[in-house]
Amino acid sequence: MRKIAVINQKGGSGKTTTVVNLGAYLAEKGKRVLLADLDPQSHTTIHLGMEPPSVRNSVYDVLIKKMPVSEAVSETYQKNLFLLPSKIELASAEIELVNEIGREIILRDMLRKYRQNFDYLIIDCPPSVGLLTLNALTTADEIFIPIQAEFFALEGLTKLLQTIEIIRDRLNTSLRISGIIITMYDERKNICRDVAAKVTDHFGKKVFKTRIRENVRLAEAPGFGKAVKDFAPGSHGADDYRKLAAEVLKKKEERR
Ligand SMILES: Nc1ncnc2c1ncn2[C@@H]1O[C@H](COP(=O)(O)OP(=O)(O)OP(=O)(O)O)[C@@H](O)[C@H]1O
Ligand SMILES: [Mg+2]
Repeated sequence: MRKIAVINQKGGSGKTTTVVNLGAYLAEKGKRVLLADLDPQSHTTIHLGMEPPSVRNSVYDVLIKKMPVSEAVSETYQKNLFLLPSKIELASAEIELVNEIGREIILRDMLRKYRQNFDYLIIDCPPSVGLLTLNALTTADEIFIPIQAEFFALEGLTKLLQTIEIIRDRLNTSLRISGIIITMYDERKNICRDVAAKVTDHFGKKVFKTRIRENVRLAEAPGFGKAVKDFAPGSHGADDYRKLAAEVLKKKEERR
């Protein structure tokens, strides 16, 4: 199983949009995909058409009450796509876990006991590097970082990379950044081309060739509880995420 954490502590960089749409395309290609919504904002959960208040068991129950993952995982409307949903209770999980031994590795532990076969685990992280994100980083082998093609995109990236290094040294030696995704790209804007060039200078081949263009359909799809491939199949957004999924399937993993 490929285990991917989608992280960027910068808010609104396209994490959730990437998790849902990449996951949906991989599932459509016949891969069994488990999405884990580790964000108390529950955007992945909502994007897949579930209302957090009506979610019975969530990732909160898994992390805090040690509920077996099997009892919290839901099917989604898309065949082969499963979700470990989130609800607002998750906002207090970081405080509730503060005195717990091994609090950074609870998710990894609970998933190990979950004997279901998936080809992909994709984790959506909140826009912060707290305990929830640490749990994602100890569970995953790979990190995808979506970077919005705009001026502030590179702010804070150095700090994020340092944090990843520390996690790798201390908690998860198999962790590596395997994909950088440029999001909300507009070819006509100098700033977008500049940021894309800087990101490519720094990360080289780790940057996916597919750039996710700015596309209003991607922003509308969550309101309809669907991935863009089902909401607006002919859109640029659908096109770009289809191509990204193909790259993810194909991309030879490079070790850092
Ligand atoms: N390529 C795109 N074109 C247009 N709008 C987009 C695109 N990607 C994402 N959006 C919109 O931008 C906003 C932020 O995207 P998203 O929620 O995926 O980011 P995020 O990193 O998960 O945010 P957060 O840090 O709050 O969790 C959302 O309203 C989303 O619908
Ligand atoms: Mg999000």
